[in-house]
Formats: sequence, structure tokens, C-alpha cells
Amino acid sequence: MLVSAKDMLNKARDGKYAVGQFNINNLEWTKAILLTAQELNSPVILGVSEGAGKYMCGYTTVVGMVKGMINELGITVPVALHLDHGTFEGAKACINAGFSSIMFDGSHYPIEENIAKTTALVNTCDVLGISLEAEVGAIGGEEDGVIGKGECANPDECKAVADLGVTMLAAGIGNIHGKYPDNWEGLSFETLEAIKAKVGDMPLVLHGGTGIPDDQIKKAISLGVAKINVNTECQWAFQEATRKYIEEGKDLQGKGFDPRKLLAPGFEAIKAKVKEKMELFGSVGKA
Ligand code: 13P
Repeated sequence: MLVSAKDMLNKARDGKYAVGQFNINNLEWTKAILLTAQELNSPVILGVSEGAGKYMCGYTTVVGMVKGMINELGITVPVALHLDHGTFEGAKACINAGFSSIMFDGSHYPIEENIAKTTALVNTCDVLGISLEAEVGAIGGEEDGVIGKGECANPDECKAVADLGVTMLAAGIGNIHGKYPDNWEGLSFETLEAIKAKVGDMPLVLHGGTGIPDDQIKKAISLGVAKINVNTECQWAFQEATRKYIEEGKDLQGKGFDPRKLLAPGFEAIKAKVKEKMELFGSVGKA
């Protein structure tokens, strides 16, 4: 079932667990995540960045692939198809294409502009039953040339955006995308607590899930995080397994060149990684 993320996140917040958002890149990725969610009876969010959307031949192709897979694989757990870090234009395009969940990332705008643009999407999403994620306090990452401590959001700005009627809120608490630098100071639980105190029931989203130690993940969930995004760790798992297959010369044996064989170890590695994260986040059996 392709559904909005609203119910699954409210349930996660109340049940003190988190739903994983796993970013997809292609058919193998999507199939691995959907099958794992079904096997573990877990709700799941498929994240699509604008770059990945373009790579997969556009948003309507993605919607077609995901809907087709849900149908053909007999997936019955709740699945949200979610735009990750969308621009305003990208958000509108995904709404039109049939996504069930949208992130509008206005964190790089001055707060007034972030509020104005987020407000413009709240109504549309509400009417269509699409969940909407907003962001306050930019989340850095190596790809942006940002290293060191991620930004910490201003709790008053978080409240102002949460009050607009969004479904969930991503707020910087020292987290960054990609690999954490060796001198990373860890998540700022002080900031998380201050934000939670201001936004009340709003489910909070933790980006940059790759490489955050398990104890910090658990503490973040206990303080109100209900959605955790993981991307890079699945990429590493896929890369490592594929590299091993080639380095062991398996592509040179028999029909080992067949893409269905060549991509199988990476596919299995993504499944194992998603399982590990769902168990850590506590979403197993919560579908
Ligand atoms: P990582 O790649 O660090 O896991 O971050 C994923 C993410 O936050 C996507 O929005």
C-alpha cells in the first residue's frame, strides 16, 4: 500500500520507535527495501532525492515502478514514497506525479521565506492526503564541503514551522549527511530536548542516519525522533558486496556476468543493512 507517512509516524512517536527512510537509486534498491519491510512486517519510507529521481528517468517512472512492485511483490505493509530534500518546484512535480509524501527543504532560505514556501505547500498536501516534511537548520555533509559539527536548529524557528501544520519536522541537531568526521562531537541532545519542548507532538526527523552510534540513535528516539534517514550506509553495503564479487573473479565464472547474478550480492547486502536498521529503530512488527 502506498500511503502518506502521517499515520506511521504518529504511531512511531507514540510507540517510541522510528520508521526508517531508505533512499532508492534503482530497481534492485527498491525491491530490496520493500521485500525487507514485508519480511519484517515493518512500515517503511522510500526516499527519492531529486538527483535520484532524474537518474531513474523522472518522478512518474519512480511512481510506476514502486506501485508496480507493491502490486507484483504482494507488499501489504505501509509504504510511503517520499521526496527527499525537495525544492519548491520539485515538491510540486512529485505531488503531480503521485508521491505520497514530500519533503520541502527550505532550510537554506531566510526563515521568513522558508515559512512562506512551506505554508504554500501545507494546504495542497493536506487536501491530497500527502504528508509533508519541513526542515529548519541546514544539515551539512561532505558533499556540500561542510565538515565538522552540523548546524543546530533554533527551537523557536522549529516551533514556527511546526505550527504551520506540517506532518513532520527535520531539525539540525549536529547531524550531517555522509561520513561523520573523526572529530565529530555527536548529536546535540540539548538541542533536541529544547526543540521537542517547543514543538510538542510533532514527529521529528533525524537525517544523516549513517554512522550515528546505536546508543545515540536510541536516545534520539526516546526524545521524540520518529523517522530516521539512511542512505550512505546502503550504498557502502552495496559497494562492498559488489567489489567482493568482482575481486573474487565470480563475474568471470560461468554465467557470472549476468547482471542478475552480478547485482545479487549487493542486493542481499542492502537487505541485510535495512534489516539491521529496522531492528535498531524498533519498527519490526509495527506495520
Ligand atoms: P546518510 O547518507 O548520511 O545516511 O543521510 C541520509 C539522509 O539524511 C537523506 O536525507
